[in-house]
Amino acid sequence: HRILVLHGPNLNLLGTREPGIYGATTLADIDARLQALAQQHGASLASFQSNHEGALVDRIQAAAGEGVDFIVINPAAYTHTSVAVRDALAAVAVPFIEVHLSNVHKREAFRHRSYFSDLAVGVIAGLGADGYEAAVRYALSH
Ligand code: DQA
Repeated sequence: HRILVLHGPNLNLLGTREPGIYGATTLADIDARLQALAQQHGASLASFQSNHEGALVDRIQAAAGEGVDFIVINPAAYTHTSVAVRDALAAVAVPFIEVHLSNVHKREAFRHRSYFSDLAVGVIAGLGADGYEAAVRYALSH
């Protein structure tokens, strides 16, 4: 397996960003945990975070040529706005799971709409960092 984990804008601030909503775990902690999990299963896992929509599009386009067979993505605020990131995932046709740390459905109405959910294999929201781990476990076993 070759898994790509993508993190959208402001997720580089995890640990200090609204910890009541997003938890105290840093992005480096999450990525290290996922890396260890993949290694245990003999899989390769790469992580990428960007605050820039186009950089996420470029990374998704590159994934196709790298033989990535599963993407785990938290599009963060782009969840609710980005046709471009959605189109990139549709273009490369790599199966993906959409992850949110918080339960977006019990938050503001503008967070209830996702440009990704109808294309995703599945959606995980509200389980904090454990949600990423569940997504990677699924990718490893499928
Ligand atoms: C988020 C939820 C989004 O609404 C928000 O814009 C984020 C993070 C989450 O992980 O809960 O930045 O995707």
